[in-house]
Amino acid sequence: MRKEKKYKKQEMTSQETIDHELDPNAIIQTIDLAKIYHITEGVEIRALNGINIDIKKGEFVSVMGPSGSGKTTLLNMIGALDNPTTGAVFISGTNIAHMNDTERTNLRLNEIGFIFQFYNLVPVLSTYENIELPMIFAGKSKEVRNRNVKKFLDIVSLSEKADHLPSELSGGEQQRVAIARALCNEPSILIADEPTGELDTVKGMEIIRLLRELNLELNQTILMVTHDPAVGTLAERMLKMRDGKIIETVITKN
Ligand SMILES: Nc1ncnc2c1ncn2[C@@H]1O[C@H](COP(=O)(O)OP(=O)(O)OP(=O)(O)O)[C@@H](O)[C@H]1O
Ligand SMILES: [Mg+2]
Repeated sequence: MRKEKKYKKQEMTSQETIDHELDPNAIIQTIDLAKIYHITEGVEIRALNGINIDIKKGEFVSVMGPSGSGKTTLLNMIGALDNPTTGAVFISGTNIAHMNDTERTNLRLNEIGFIFQFYNLVPVLSTYENIELPMIFAGKSKEVRNRNVKKFLDIVSLSEKADHLPSELSGGEQQRVAIARALCNEPSILIADEPTGELDTVKGMEIIRLLRELNLELNQTILMVTHDPAVGTLAERMLKMRDGKIIETVITKN
């Protein structure tokens, strides 16, 4: 992938060109990221309104903000699930807008692992098979798949439940399967959208502690959205969003 050192943006109002120095240490960098949804003729929603964030390898960053403030939209842009209206997202120095379809698919499969609020496990597949699935898509050999499934089953403490179907697991266990699945291709970034949203406080905290362990022990970069301040402050840095903007950055003591 071609790395870029500078990002030039044509400023629509003044027609002047603004140069943004790219941070060579950033694993995620967004520049003036904006997303406008056109609902009907003349009605638009500015879901993101000029987001500039810079996340380094090994950081654990949380995003908090009221419903509708743009948190999921931001994750979707960073995870290449959707395209910004203006601005840019750089992953490890590469502008994802410049990637072709194959490169974007590879990015989503190999560089970014997703965890969602509702786990999104395949109901007819066992724990083992759910974790194995992204590695099949990524073309990994049977041997590598087997090794990685066992490794991540052990990390999320579910080796005993490898043969269970999702319906035979608790919510917290299902989320741990989803975490193992997100990690099995050893992505450089783990993106989590409300990973504790469906869990009670105790089970939710277990998930956050697991994410923090992965962050510290594997130097896993994590970007996590949450509604819960107790969860948000467990990250090293908390970005507070409102109306499509980052209104405050809080460095926590973690
Ligand atoms: N596909 C879409 N089409 C139109 N509007 C959308 C779409 N997706 C999101 N929006 C709007 O964009 C804004 C931001 O939505 P987003 O889902 O990012 O919020 P959020 O912060 O994740 O909220 P929540 O905490 O409820 O999950 C909202 O006003 C939402 O209605
Ligand atoms: Mg959301």
